[in-house]
Amino acid sequence: MTSYITKKSGKYWPSKAMKDIAWVKDSKIYKEADKNPIKFWSELAKQGLVWEKLWKPENTYVQKIPYFWWFKQGKINFCVNALDRHLDKPSKPALIWVPEPTNEKTVILTYAGLYEKVNRFANTLKQLGVKKQEIVSIYLPLIPEALIAMLACTRIGAIHSVVFSAFAPDALKTRIIDGNAKILITADGYYRRGKKENLLKKAKKAIKGTKIKKVIVVPRFNKKKHYFGKYLNFYDILNKTPSYCKPEIMNSEDPLFILYTSGTTGKPKGIVHDTGGYATQAYWTTKWNFNLHEDDIIWCTADIGWVTGHTYAFYGPLLNGATTLIYEGTPDFPNPSRWWKIIDKFKVTSFYTAPTAIRMFMRFGDKWVNKHKLNSLRILATVGEPIDQNAWNWYLKKIGKSRCPIIDTWWQTETGGTLINVLPGIGPFIPTIAGKSFPGTRHIILNKAGKKVSKGFLAQVSPFAPGMLHGVWKNHKKYVETYWKTFKTKYDTSDGAIMKNNLFRITGRTDDVMKVAGHRLATAELENVINTHKFVNESAVVPIPDKIKGQTPIAFVVLKGKNKNPEKIEKKLKSHVDKHLGPTSRPSRIYLVNALPKTRSGKIMRRILKSLLNNEEAQGLMTLVNPDCVEEIKNLVSQDIINKNAKKTNN
Ligand code: PRX
Repeated sequence: MTSYITKKSGKYWPSKAMKDIAWVKDSKIYKEADKNPIKFWSELAKQGLVWEKLWKPENTYVQKIPYFWWFKQGKINFCVNALDRHLDKPSKPALIWVPEPTNEKTVILTYAGLYEKVNRFANTLKQLGVKKQEIVSIYLPLIPEALIAMLACTRIGAIHSVVFSAFAPDALKTRIIDGNAKILITADGYYRRGKKENLLKKAKKAIKGTKIKKVIVVPRFNKKKHYFGKYLNFYDILNKTPSYCKPEIMNSEDPLFILYTSGTTGKPKGIVHDTGGYATQAYWTTKWNFNLHEDDIIWCTADIGWVTGHTYAFYGPLLNGATTLIYEGTPDFPNPSRWWKIIDKFKVTSFYTAPTAIRMFMRFGDKWVNKHKLNSLRILATVGEPIDQNAWNWYLKKIGKSRCPIIDTWWQTETGGTLINVLPGIGPFIPTIAGKSFPGTRHIILNKAGKKVSKGFLAQVSPFAPGMLHGVWKNHKKYVETYWKTFKTKYDTSDGAIMKNNLFRITGRTDDVMKVAGHRLATAELENVINTHKFVNESAVVPIPDKIKGQTPIAFVVLKGKNKNPEKIEKKLKSHVDKHLGPTSRPSRIYLVNALPKTRSGKIMRRILKSLLNNEEAQGLMTLVNPDCVEEIKNLVSQDIINKNAKKTNN
């Protein structure tokens, strides 16, 4: 069995077999790219993509901080790059879709098949009046029609805004309103753990009070169903439209999509990504991180509701003309062998997932993995949160069978593509270390005063990477405040990092953002929702470490009236969160308290709550107006720990 790694002085490095197939194997690339990143990316953009018209040399990179543009006024269509140019191999699979029910057939869309559907759907959108640069909302699960819909938008130059299908109607509604969308593409439902989830019901609720004129429904369950009024069956209209749609030629800097993500305040921000810069970074990071060759099959397990799904489940692989695999359902359905069976059956070569999933499989036990060969795999990768040594070792041994490198990729919704990781042909592969800045990008670690240090705040330095965001949708102020206030001329990532032997270790968020099972969630967002419940006076949310999810939110709530039945109220508040944000955001514990620790200026001291939850001595009580409440909360929390331990012993 070929091994792609070798151990030297206690560290893993690429083996000869890896070097033989690696796109990048000489670490000189870092220095060379760094000499002139603008030239470097300019060459890559020309090499990796087809342009209708190249940009003027002086427009390769234009910067007016906080904004910057790559390949300004270069003419390009994204869909042409993802599809049309691969039509010389029409029967090659572009997408393999594995539905959750084991008795349902896999769907394979070839490049030619996908091309036809995308063209027809692009015409559909045009017929419905969608104009260039208008936002189309997409609320779809992981099904092939999601890819068709997204690519169709890019073909006509519309901007897609995908909303995670597990989000609640309210979350969809605020995103539709912010983008002023007139069209919503959704589905009648999807399978989750063997059960039918009714997505359309949630979509119907969400569009009340918005400007949505038409809702296109993908019939996941009921293929023949006719819809009326505002609602249309995806396939009814698709089959009636012409099979060719002329691609709209866009400027490189025109927005391609927006994607909402949590910041430190309650309202999610619409992160704007452009066309040419994003495509360049998506193309090259996919190719080099996963060492992707045309015959490879990449499986990125992220949902398309997240940026990872956009860039590495869909766009990066298609720009490279490879085959991407997506799976509709729950990882452990009908049992924890499901993912590994899929890898063996379809001979997946690159596998990309989140540490939280790895920890979940570790808990299920090795027997679910041991019986699978997994010998098609060459590259393993992770994203979304730091990966601890245990999970890393398990991933390497059990999934990689000690022969595949692990690429720990650091990036964000804002960065469009990966930015800090090692490359498979270069290495080293070290647990808890993300690695180096991707060639042609620059990161440094700063202290609060903006001085270079080896442990502190991670920032990106000009020229900023081509995949970087182009602002926050309709909110210049928020863009400046979030990313440019601290370091002015450098992009503030809101992550902490440590530099060790010229490699970055990411230590986690430095703001009030949690990563719960890899999902990004602001404490303020959750507090805002809890505070809208009629019983609630105020609340504070803090994350605590969780063995599987990485972090989990805990809420402290002050009620308007008396806490008569805490258990019942806790349940009610949890379902209130489910209803308004979705179950991924549900706090794992809600404490009802009489008061929250506050400073004289009225600021809630979440830091103190965090210490109490971690069983640490709370510091800085002198600054509080109400230090008495700390004792009450401490008792409540420690009682809870005692109860939990008692339960464990009784079980
Ligand atoms: O804190 C970092 C963490 O995830 C944040 C970005 O979250 P999101 O925008 O949802 O995008 C996730 C997928 C790109 C970052 O600010 N993060 C992401 N990757 C890593 C990570 N933390 C540590 N190691 C990583 N590899």
